[in-house]
Amino acid sequence: VIEITRYSKLKQSVRDELDRIIKGEFGHIPIVSEITWATPDWTVILYKDGEIATFCNIIERTVMIDNRNFLASGINNLITPEKFRGQGFATHILKETENFIFENLKSELGILLCADELVPFYERLKWYKVNCPVWFNQPTGAQLWKANTMLRTKEIVIRPDHIDLGGLPW
Ligand SMILES: CC(C)(COP(=O)(O)OP(=O)(O)OC[C@H]1O[C@@H](n2cnc3c(N)ncnc32)[C@H](O)[C@@H]1OP(=O)(O)O)[C@@H](O)C(=O)NCCC(=O)NCCS
Repeated sequence: VIEITRYSKLKQSVRDELDRIIKGEFGHIPIVSEITWATPDWTVILYKDGEIATFCNIIERTVMIDNRNFLASGINNLITPEKFRGQGFATHILKETENFIFENLKSELGILLCADELVPFYERLKWYKVNCPVWFNQPTGAQLWKANTMLRTKEIVIRPDHIDLGGLPW
């Protein structure tokens, strides 16, 4: 079962469980604790026998790409807890998330920020890496994203020269 819920409407117990999983997965990574991240707008959860088997968040954002505004959906915290890995759950939830962002949210593209080792995983699902500067905001000012940025467009592959996420990153 896949449930897509407004982040603000998540039950506190579910939010606590997601926070616990996120902290366990990314809590020790310095860049993760040093950056101020955006609050999600939506959470997509795949339940298996009542347990969270995989999930991700969506951030709705107008981003600037080569001087034009795009309605984008940022994807973050795609996590499958260890005991559920390798069964295609992340692949499944990502496909459902893509349907939702294009069909329901009417996003023009998906954007995710990720580490090198995850690039092949997303490439299998038609995400592609951009090779341009990607700017985001922090309380201290604008910053450049140093790891990978991947895009998912519906039909045409775009090759931007400049991206501004227009707010906190995800
Ligand atoms: C990445 C992740 C979400 C995949 O979840 P999953 O449900 O096991 O994914 P699927 O079963 O759909 O696909 C598994 C594939 O992911 C790839 N993969 C997963 N983690 C990987 C890693 N760290 N490095 C390289 N490939 C990886 C493998 O190629 C694997 O393919 P295989 O089954 O043919 O071996 C999960 O491993 C996870 O939660 N990792 C830690 C959190 C994380 O890094 N999330 C990504 C944030 S951008």
